[in-house]
Amino acid sequence: MAAATADTKVAAAAAVTGTKQPHVLIVGGTGMLADAAVALCDGTRIVSVLSRSVSWMDGVKKRSKFPNHFVHLKCDYSADTQLVQVLSAATQKYGRFSLAIVWIHSNVSTTAPVTVAGFVDGPYFHVLGSDSASAPETTTLRKEIEPKLGAGFKSSGGSGGPGSGGGLAASVTIGCSYHEVILGFINEQPPAAAIKGYGLTASAHKTRWLTWEEISAGVLLAITTRKPRSIVGTVEPWSLRPKY
Ligand SMILES: NC(=O)c1ccc[n+]([C@@H]2O[C@H](COP(=O)([O-])OP(=O)(O)OC[C@H]3O[C@@H](n4cnc5c(N)ncnc54)[C@H](OP(=O)(O)O)[C@@H]3O)[C@@H](O)[C@H]2O)c1
Repeated sequence: MAAATADTKVAAAAAVTGTKQPHVLIVGGTGMLADAAVALCDGTRIVSVLSRSVSWMDGVKKRSKFPNHFVHLKCDYSADTQLVQVLSAATQKYGRFSLAIVWIHSNVSTTAPVTVAGFVDGPYFHVLGSDSASAPETTTLRKEIEPKLGAGFKSSGGSGGPGSGGGLAASVTIGCSYHEVILGFINEQPPAAAIKGYGLTASAHKTRWLTWEEISAGVLLAITTRKPRSIVGTVEPWSLRPKY
């Protein structure tokens, strides 16, 4: 299938090692998560990156010491059927995902994060914008996934996942653990001593959005700590969030 053009060199690398390498998925890993993608592709894993642009993926590969361990899953995640086909092909070839980092614009697709979860057997890190911090957890994917964990959902067999059609089919095993990574902002308030020493007022502080490097580093830290909900930077006080 053209959309799931797996890098044959990766298969060759796996054959050389003689062992099945863990299979990691990064949805949207060619933008602000590119540093995280490069860090996770350390030669011990196959790292599948799902995005639309081949040239952006080539840029990520060029930064890696292990470009042959990357697999580009060229796919538009707003197209549910294509998403299922691409993930099915990738997991049939390299195994179900033992780790997933998922950055999907909620205004583009609300079903794609759930569809992806059906292919993951390890921790699933859902990267979310700052607005999600104030949203009750009952509105998040957690509500959709967690009731299905161990709730008797059985795989239809093999590593193929849900088959055709979007959304989370009842036949899917949900084997992942769900973790949120909320992108906040940086409060650059001067230390109290500086405020006192230089006669600055609290209003002297500035806030700014996270850099790409900070976002990737925060996601990698969240993978290490495995909290149910991690916040990169801060979301408080919300009134001090940067204006665009
Ligand atoms: N603090 C916050 O709350 C917060 C939250 C979100 C973002 N931000 C900031 O906003 C900036 C822009 O974020 P961004 O998400 O637009 O850019 P981005 O993270 O740089 O890129 C988005 C990623 O998703 C992929 N993608 C986008 N649409 C897709 C689709 N329909 N199907 C498959 N893959 C798709 C992109 O690749 P392709 O285009 O090749 O498909 C890329 O890999 C970031 O740099 C970040 O600093 C801040």
